[in-house]
Amino acid sequence: MTGTPLLVVDDIEVVYQQAILALRGLSLSVDAGQAVTLLGANGAGKSTALKAVSNLLRAERGRVTRGRVLFEGQDIGRLDTADLVEAGVIQVLEGRHCFPQLTVEENLISGAVSRRLRGRALRAALDRVYDLFPRLVPKRGINAGYTSGGEQQMLAIGRALMARPRLIALDEPSMGLAPLVVEEIFDILHRLRDEEGISLLIAEQNAAVALRHADHAYIVENGRAVVDGPAADIAARPDVRDLYFGLSASSERTPHAPGAPVLTESP
Ligand SMILES: Nc1ncnc2c1ncn2[C@@H]1O[C@H](COP(=O)(O)OP(=O)(O)OP(=O)(O)O)[C@@H](O)[C@H]1O
Ligand SMILES: [Mg+2]
Repeated sequence: MTGTPLLVVDDIEVVYQQAILALRGLSLSVDAGQAVTLLGANGAGKSTALKAVSNLLRAERGRVTRGRVLFEGQDIGRLDTADLVEAGVIQVLEGRHCFPQLTVEENLISGAVSRRLRGRALRAALDRVYDLFPRLVPKRGINAGYTSGGEQQMLAIGRALMARPRLIALDEPSMGLAPLVVEEIFDILHRLRDEEGISLLIAEQNAAVALRHADHAYIVENGRAVVDGPAADIAARPDVRDLYFGLSASSERTPHAPGAPVLTESP
């Protein structure tokens, strides 16, 4: 580690359709080998922040109108998706987005296009993904469209890995998945961080799960990061528990710690 953050989002403003102000001076940073989570209510700006990092705003008529996004100190604001992948930044979009008509293995291979892998190198990259996601092994010849939601999320992450990224941005990886599958996916994200040194930027509504697995957390409100700190500290803040855990408490498997405030269920 160099001490310089890998990714720096510096005071960005994002406007959609020249009218809708979605981010109003959002700043954050991700160190090498760190898992950082973005939490916040619906519409807070989490997905927009990820799209600004991966330069996916243009497709939605969105634009960064102020501020900068730096990766290893380089301004990446003008790089297209292919150049970003080359630089080491890749996003796993919300909703997983596999090619449903291609097999699981063909989907994985499509993730390595930028590296032009062939033969043994390609096999080794595939084997690493199958090692991380053993559930994909029996599905390798099956069309991705016929796999379960959890398997598709694993496939989407596996395909991102095939590009050998340094940073993966993930939008709501837990969405729509059963708690046990969510745990499995976050455990694998842990391994990516620990065994491969991959940095993670994860937008999540499921604050309880995300905080348990992240190193650092930002709370986004109204297009700004209003609070940040080590994930364990954020998880212990009563105001955060009240605001954000109420929604996700029902999906938590662990009981409350003794003395923790009792959470009100959302209606
Ligand atoms: N393509 C778009 N065009 C116009 N406005 C948009 C677009 N995408 C998002 N917005 C607006 O930008 C703001 C931030 O949205 P964003 O999707 O980033 O929030 P979010 O934190 O990811 O929410 P959620 O938890 O629901 O996924 C919202 O006010 C939203 O309505
Ligand atoms: Mg979102």
